[in-house]
Amino acid sequence: MSLAHDPNSSDLPSSSTMASTIAPTSQNSPAGLPPSVFTLPQTAQLEALYTIIRDKDTSRGDFLFYSDRIIRLLVEEALNHLPVVAKSVQTPTGATYDGLGFEGKICGVSILRAGEAMEAGLREVCRSVRIGKILIQRDEETALPKLFYSKFPQDIASRYVLLLDPMLATGGSAMKAVEVLVEHGVPEDRIIFVNLISSPEGLKTFCAKYPTLRVITGWIDKGLNEQAYIIPGLGDFGERRYCI
Ligand code: URA
Repeated sequence: MSLAHDPNSSDLPSSSTMASTIAPTSQNSPAGLPPSVFTLPQTAQLEALYTIIRDKDTSRGDFLFYSDRIIRLLVEEALNHLPVVAKSVQTPTGATYDGLGFEGKICGVSILRAGEAMEAGLREVCRSVRIGKILIQRDEETALPKLFYSKFPQDIASRYVLLLDPMLATGGSAMKAVEVLVEHGVPEDRIIFVNLISSPEGLKTFCAKYPTLRVITGWIDKGLNEQAYIIPGLGDFGERRYCI
């Protein structure tokens, strides 16, 4: 029996956030940040995964493998934020189990190009999940984020949307993406933004604009440099993922 989540029905997957037996090594909690921000449990295992993908000498193969592991954890955590309803089932022993059933349809929307790297992790957990795409780039004239392309499931307004982009730096692209989703009828509080690393500046700007939208982030870093790269960060996620 497959436990994969069918995103088009209410039969969502069993969420399997890993229970860690190792105490957190760092308290990278989002203190001072809005209650809509959730980090993964800051375990030593997670920090070891991040150490690998941050290392400039990590091979592309290892970068793919270990960033995929983090993405899988992030997707599972994002699914924990979806609603559930009471549901009773009969077990093979003849007993009744009063449990919970998943509620609500979902879709993914990846912000191109780096966000595409997170689609496979979502598909692994959510069987035949619909995925939309959005391309936002800096407008050379205005220096503001500009929408170049978007394609969404037709019924996106009735779905919970997992918005996928690995790095939340200034927040410009993510905010533009949310603006476009809201224009397509998706309520702000039905969007869950999923990313691997956030800057505190980006989080604050983003959450001030969209206070009811939940952000699931793997790690909150120190800040941004002059080129708007996250520090310490991991460099350009798309380059490391797609280029040798
Ligand atoms: N995008 C990246 O890939 N890396 C950063 O540090 C910031 C944005």
